[in-house]
Amino acid sequence: MAEVQLKNIVKIYPFIDKPKRKYFGLFGKKVAPRVRKHNLQITDRGVIAVQSSNIDIADGEFIVLVGPSGCGKSTTLRMVAGLEEITEGELLIDGKIVNSIEPKDRDIAMVFQSYALYPHMTVEQNMAYPLKILPQNITYQFEIDYLNYQIEEYQNEKNELAGDSKNASKIESLDNKINECKDRIKECENKIAAGEVSYFAKMSSGMRKFKIMQVAEMLNITDYLDRKPKNLSGGQRQRVAIGRAVVRNPKVLLMDEPLSNLDAKLRNQMRAEIIKLRKKINTTFIYVTHDQVEAMTLGDRIVVMKDGFVQQIGTPQEVFDHPRNKFVSGFIGTPQMNYFEGELLLENGKYFAKVDDYKVELSPEKQARLSKNNVEPQAITVGVRPDHMIVGNEGIEGSVDVSELMGPSVHLHMTVKGKDAIVIVPTLGGYVDYVGQNIKLGFDGNLIHLFSNYNDRNLEFIDEEVMEDPRAVAQREAEAKEKAKAQEAETKVEEPKVEEPKEDLSV
Ligand SMILES: Nc1ncnc2c1ncn2[C@@H]1O[C@H](COP(=O)(O)OP(=O)(O)OP(=O)(O)O)[C@@H](O)[C@H]1O
Ligand SMILES: [Mg+2]
Repeated sequence: MAEVQLKNIVKIYPFIDKPKRKYFGLFGKKVAPRVRKHNLQITDRGVIAVQSSNIDIADGEFIVLVGPSGCGKSTTLRMVAGLEEITEGELLIDGKIVNSIEPKDRDIAMVFQSYALYPHMTVEQNMAYPLKILPQNITYQFEIDYLNYQIEEYQNEKNELAGDSKNASKIESLDNKINECKDRIKECENKIAAGEVSYFAKMSSGMRKFKIMQVAEMLNITDYLDRKPKNLSGGQRQRVAIGRAVVRNPKVLLMDEPLSNLDAKLRNQMRAEIIKLRKKINTTFIYVTHDQVEAMTLGDRIVVMKDGFVQQIGTPQEVFDHPRNKFVSGFIGTPQMNYFEGELLLENGKYFAKVDDYKVELSPEKQARLSKNNVEPQAITVGVRPDHMIVGNEGIEGSVDVSELMGPSVHLHMTVKGKDAIVIVPTLGGYVDYVGQNIKLGFDGNLIHLFSNYNDRNLEFIDEEVMEDPRAVAQREAEAKEKAKAQEAETKVEEPKVEEPKEDLSV
């Protein structure tokens, strides 16, 4: 286990393309080629993969990095592993800066999406590999486990020999061995107490075998130890890959989309296995996925990323219940949250959300958070999750285009105020076919989300300090300026032209 801290980490991949040949325009005049930048992440310095990442990961925590493709998840993980140089910022493991420490000395293991097993080796040989080639940094606890296992074995042997006087000398030698093991355990315990770490240049084959069996049992792969990877299913291969990573007792286990090569059923099964594994081994996990269900179910905390920026860090519940901006609210939760143009009203000291003519009083917690920040009444985007919409006699009106019966619920695909929306209605034994109908959708003042139209932030948490993408901020400011200019032009009343009196030149 280890504590991992990312402090203002930035990763910029410099352009490695060769300088382009000079362009010559008409009459041989040098002209600069026109470069189009579609992507905010591509700048003059290179590709900005990760921007000002600040993540504190506690000892033994399971952290999940989640976000759309290209948001910098793998890059963050690779920087922690030491496979990628850190452009700016500090990476600390157990309080020590490790920016320039070699990957092999960081005591970190990584599991990749492609299993990356050696095809010519058996499962056992694959798992033994990390123990064989590395002058492994093994703590004394590891040796104690093995000595205890040896004592058990000697004890069993002793029990078998007992009762026959002919075996007295053998029993005596077994007793000596047990005592030796016990002495060594004491020694190891003292060394642990003194904070020492042992380095074995080579592990004994018995110890290696013991460790492999221990991990194989944990992952349910003892039956396949003699097989080669090509004779295993995808799920079994991924288990071996995990086994090979954890056999070294790494302080930190990094996993980069380890389940995305598996089919849906196997993925669910392996997800449950990872939850179990997590309880059995003492390691800090950093897990990368773009699947929000995996993020919600596995993580103690989730880090939601976009365009190289951390958008929100929190427990799955916190991120789901209180998304700090519109992006997070849309990324976490399926089907996606619905958004409606609305207004935030303040009447007699109470806040209301209004969409069309439908007005809802906000819950006391929301009232408190908004008034603490003195949020002013304004035009907003109201976010409501599909299962938080209530079909009834009051609310905003929409027409049902498609109805999908899912079993316990029906998903209604609707058009509300000209935009698509999804509503989940529990069937509770009775299925009503709403297709073609106009229905009213209400919502609860506690279960809606209020986003600023200016910067997409959740207005309840506007006081929190966030690291914003400076390019997005600049873009937003430019847009706001343009809008203001357009408004000004519209409202400007044309001044009547006053004709100047002509000078009388006749005199
Ligand atoms: N070696 C590289 N050179 C230049 N740019 C790179 C390099 N590796 C990654 N990038 C860019 O950095 C950004 C982040 O990449 P990264 O692999 O971390 O994304 P990701 O979040 O893991 O995405 P995915 O879910 O698709 O794996 C992307 O824009 C990518 O194109
Ligand atoms: Mg990736």
